[in-house]
Amino acid sequence: SPGASLLLHLHSVCLFQSWNNHNLSTVPLDLDARLRSLDLSNNFIRQLSTLALPYLEQLDVSNNQLDLISEGAFENLARLERLNLSRNELNNNLGSNSKALQSLSGLKNLDLSMNGLSNDAVELYLRNKPSLDQLRMTGNVLTRLSPNLFRQSKGLRTIIIDENLISEIDQGTFEPLSQLETLTLAKNNLACICDFRLYQLKYLNLSRNSVEFFVTRENDELYKLEILDLSYNKLLYFPVVPKFNHLKYLHLQNNMVGSLTSEATMVSEANSLYREIVREKTVTKNNLHSIWRLMPLIYIDLSYNHFTSFPIETLSLPLPLETLNFSYNCLQNINWDIRNYSDPGSSLRQLYFHSLKHLELKSNGLGYISPFFLSALPKIETLNLQDNSVQPCSSTQQENLTTSCVEFEQLQTLKHLNLKENNIKILQRNTFQRTSLVSLNLAKNVHMVMHEGALESVRASLQSLIISEINMSSARLSLPCMPGLTQLNVSNNHLDTLPSSLSCSSLRGIDMRNNDFKTLDQSLIHNLSAHLTNMYVSGNHFNCCDSGWLTILNQTELVTKVPHYLVSTASVAFSVLVQWAICLTPLI
Ligand SMILES: *[C@@H]1O[C@H](CO)[C@@H](O)[C@H](O)[C@H]1NC(C)=O
Ligand SMILES: *[C@@H]1O[C@H](CO)[C@@H](O)[C@H](O)[C@H]1NC(C)=O
Ligand SMILES: *[C@@H]1O[C@H](CO)[C@@H](O)[C@H](O)[C@H]1NC(C)=O
Ligand SMILES: *[C@@H]1O[C@H](CO)[C@@H](O)[C@H](O)[C@H]1NC(C)=O
Ligand SMILES: *[C@@H]1O[C@H](CO)[C@@H](O)[C@H](O)[C@H]1NC(C)=O
Repeated sequence: SPGASLLLHLHSVCLFQSWNNHNLSTVPLDLDARLRSLDLSNNFIRQLSTLALPYLEQLDVSNNQLDLISEGAFENLARLERLNLSRNELNNNLGSNSKALQSLSGLKNLDLSMNGLSNDAVELYLRNKPSLDQLRMTGNVLTRLSPNLFRQSKGLRTIIIDENLISEIDQGTFEPLSQLETLTLAKNNLACICDFRLYQLKYLNLSRNSVEFFVTRENDELYKLEILDLSYNKLLYFPVVPKFNHLKYLHLQNNMVGSLTSEATMVSEANSLYREIVREKTVTKNNLHSIWRLMPLIYIDLSYNHFTSFPIETLSLPLPLETLNFSYNCLQNINWDIRNYSDPGSSLRQLYFHSLKHLELKSNGLGYISPFFLSALPKIETLNLQDNSVQPCSSTQQENLTTSCVEFEQLQTLKHLNLKENNIKILQRNTFQRTSLVSLNLAKNVHMVMHEGALESVRASLQSLIISEINMSSARLSLPCMPGLTQLNVSNNHLDTLPSSLSCSSLRGIDMRNNDFKTLDQSLIHNLSAHLTNMYVSGNHFNCCDSGWLTILNQTELVTKVPHYLVSTASVAFSVLVQWAICLTPLI
C-alpha cells in the first residue's frame, strides 16, 4: 500500500544520509538523531564539533580539509564502528584530535590514509581501540614502527600501511597482534627482513620496498603464511621462508635473483648469507633447499629477474608447483646442469617438475632447451615461448639439422603453445606430433616457411591458430582439414585466397585484416557461414563487382534466428560495409 511504501522510504532516509560532494564547509545542523550512517565525504569541512548521533554506525568524512576535531566531538557516538578520515589534515592539533578519537572504543574499521601522519600522531590516534579490526594508513609519513603503536589495538586483523617511509620495524611491533592475518607494507623503504617471526599472518605484502634479504631463522613453529609478495625489491637470492608454512603464492617478480651466477653458486651463497644472519655455526647444511622442499607452493612469479641459468634443482623440489612465470630473464639456453651425487662425472640425473602446468618463458633470448628439461614436464599444459629464438623440429628431421632445435613432441600433455616472434625459419612436417595442441600461436615469424604437413599431426585437436604477421602469401599457405578449428587469425599477411581446406572447420571467428583479398570464395563462405560469428575483413581491397560472398553472408543473416548471431553478423556486415564505402566513393 502507498502508506507502507512511504513509511519504508522515511525509514531508509533516517538510516542513511549522504552529503557527499555538497560544497559543505560545516556539518549540517539538525541531523536526524536516528541516523545509522552519515556520508560527509568530498566537502570542505575543516572542523568537527560534537555530533549527537547515538545510533550512528558509519561515518565518512574522507576528502575534506579536516584539521580540528573538538575533544568531545565523538563522545555521543557510542555505536560508531566504521570511521573514514582519509584525505584530511589530521597531522595538526594532535592534542584535541587524539582525545576525540580516544573516545571511540568500539571502532572496528578506521581509515587514516593521506593525512600526513607521523609515528607520534598515529600512536596517539590508536589509543583505546580494543575492537579495531581493520586499519588503513596509506600515504602517511611513518618512518619507524614500534610496539607502542598498536599496544591499545591488539585485536587488529588487517593492517594496511603502504606508501609510507617505513625503514625500520622494531621487534615486538606485530608479534603481540594475535589476530593479525593481513599485513600490507608495500611501497616503503624496508631493506631487510632478517628474522621473520609473524606466525599468525596469512598475507604479507612487501612489494616495492628495497628488500635485499628475506630470512626466517629455522624453527619448528607452524606459520600460517599463504601469500608472500616480495615483488619489486632488490632480492639477490630466493627468500628463506619459514620451515613449516602454508605458502602457496610467492611473488618475486622484478628483483635481482639469479644475478650472473650458476644455480649451485647462488644456493651456496644464499646458505652462507643465512648462516651469517642467524649466526649459525654448522657449515654444510643446505638450509634453503631443506626448507623449500616443504613448501606447499603452487604459484611462483620470477619474471623480470636476472637469471642466466634455470634453477632446476630448486624449482624441481617436490613442490606442488603449477604455475611458474620465468619471463623476462636472461636465459639463452636451458641446459641440464645439475649435480649428480652418485656419479659426479655425469650430469644426466633426471628430475621432474611433477605438477607444473603453466610455464611462462617469454622474452628470454632462449635458443636451446635441453630434452632433459622437456621430459621433466609430465603435466605441462601451457608453454609461452614468445619472443625467443626457438627453432622447432621433429625427431625425424633433427639429425639433418646442424643448429640446435626444440622437439615439442616430448610434451604430450601440452595444449597451448605460444611461439610468436621466434624468428622461426622453417616449420617441418609433423613438428608437433604426439602433442594434442589446442591453441598455437606462430605470429610474427616473418621468415617462416611452413611445410605442407607442418600441422598435420595436430589437425584433430587444434581449436585456435594464429599465423598473423608472417609475410605469408596464399601460394605458401596450406592448411590441413581441421574439424575442431574455431578461431583463425591470418591478419597482416599477403593472402589473396583462403585455403579451401578451411571448409572442414567450424570457424566461429576469423581475422583476415590487412591482406590482399579482392574477393572470397563463395562456396567456402557458404560453408563457413553456418558457424561464423566474427569476421574481420578491413584493410583489404575488395572488388565491388565480385561481391557474391557478401550476398551469401547477408542471406545467412536473414535466415538465422538467434539474436546473438544477428548482433555479430551485424559486425560482419559493418566491417564489410566500411570497405564498401571506400570502394564506392570513386564512382560517386
Ligand atoms: C575511505 O574513503 C576513501 C574515499 O575518499 C575510499 O577510497 C576508501 O576506500 C574508504 N576507506 C574504507 C576503509 O572504506
Ligand atoms: C601488493 O601490493 C601492491 C601495491 O599495493 C599491489 O599492487 C599488489 O597487487 C599486492 N600483491 C598481492 C599479491 O596482493
Ligand atoms: C606471470 O605469469 C602468470 C601466469 O600466466 C600471470 O598470472 C602473471 O601475471 C605473470 N606475471 C607478470 C609480472 O606478468
Ligand atoms: C590477430 O592478430 C593481430 C596481430 O597480428 C592482432 O592485432 C589481432 O587482435 C588478432 N585478432 C583477433 C581477433 O584477436
Ligand atoms: C615479405 O615478403 C616480400 C615478398 O613477398 C619481401 O619482399 C619482403 O622483404 C618480406 N618482408 C620481410 C620482413 O621478410
